[in-house]
Amino acid sequence: MVTIAKGTPKKQPSISLENRGIRHFLNIYDTSKPYALLTGASMGIGRSMAHKLAALGHHLILVALPDQTLKDFAIELEKTYNVKAIPYGIDLTAEDAPKRIFDFCTKHNLEVNILINNAGFGLGGLFENIDLTQYNTMMSLNTRTIIGMTHYFLPKLKQHQESYILNTSSMEALLPVPYKSVYTATKGFIYSFSLALREEVRPYNVNVSVLCPGSVLTNKEGLKRIKAMGWKAKMMVMMPDEVADNALDKMFKKKGVIVPGGFNLFFTKLGKVLPTSVKMNLLEKIFSAYKEH
Ligand SMILES: NC(=O)c1ccc[n+]([C@@H]2O[C@H](COP(=O)([O-])OP(=O)(O)OC[C@H]3O[C@@H](n4cnc5c(N)ncnc54)[C@H](OP(=O)(O)O)[C@@H]3O)[C@@H](O)[C@H]2O)c1
Repeated sequence: MVTIAKGTPKKQPSISLENRGIRHFLNIYDTSKPYALLTGASMGIGRSMAHKLAALGHHLILVALPDQTLKDFAIELEKTYNVKAIPYGIDLTAEDAPKRIFDFCTKHNLEVNILINNAGFGLGGLFENIDLTQYNTMMSLNTRTIIGMTHYFLPKLKQHQESYILNTSSMEALLPVPYKSVYTATKGFIYSFSLALREEVRPYNVNVSVLCPGSVLTNKEGLKRIKAMGWKAKMMVMMPDEVADNALDKMFKKKGVIVPGGFNLFFTKLGKVLPTSVKMNLLEKIFSAYKEH
């Protein structure tokens, strides 16, 4: 059996909610200060990060699949924190999604000084049991979309005195997980990309960080995964708010690699000193519970 985490695209690409919204026609976006743009902002870690950023007074562009929930969330943030929150509903796996988001910002003179590439999902199970179409969708969302968003927004980010890119990878980028081989590889891709780009753009005061969370209780699939893993996962599981706090705090401190949680940090450090064969053997034993997912 194959596990498809929540977040697997379930709706077809459609016109952005904002393009159908009243604000579009009235053109009442606040352009007096820059925005933080977050993908995967409607749920889990992204939703928690949106709360934290709004609490700090940042205007927000919230990207997720087109849904009323996203619109309602934007309204909730505006009311609670007195900031602007623009919902932008789009299927990020569509090839032109990054361009459409960038064009929308350009058209409405919305400056972005914080780009958080967070949307992503995971597939677990024996490699050959998972459908290739699902792999392609996951690879697209977890990697290509992030490259596209970064490519479009980087020139703009460079124009600010200081700006930030935060890419959500996973602890699995550091500790490759058997039975989640392709997901692990997408997160490894983002990890390497982020660290390399970080050095390239340092002279422009664009800070690139990569977030590597361990298990985070964000959705029902996550809960199933944690239950399957038993005490090992329960010991290490974190809540989205904790991860978001840690991630944003360290992003603003310009840390390169962010691994939230003491246990997670310990295990990633241990992973660096163990011989690869020993490490991979241990990881196979620990994560063999995913085999039947
Ligand atoms: N949870 C964990 O244990 C864990 C651990 C390590 C790393 N991560 C990574 O952390 C990130 C966030 O994970 P999460 O668990 O917080 O996710 P989540 O709760 O499943 O939420 C995923 C978010 O991404 C959006 N999304 C999914 N597919 C999309 C698409 N095709 N187009 C546009 N938006 C899309 C969802 O929008 P809708 O609400 O509209 O579906 C939702 O806002 C991911 O990159 C994940 O790989 C998670």
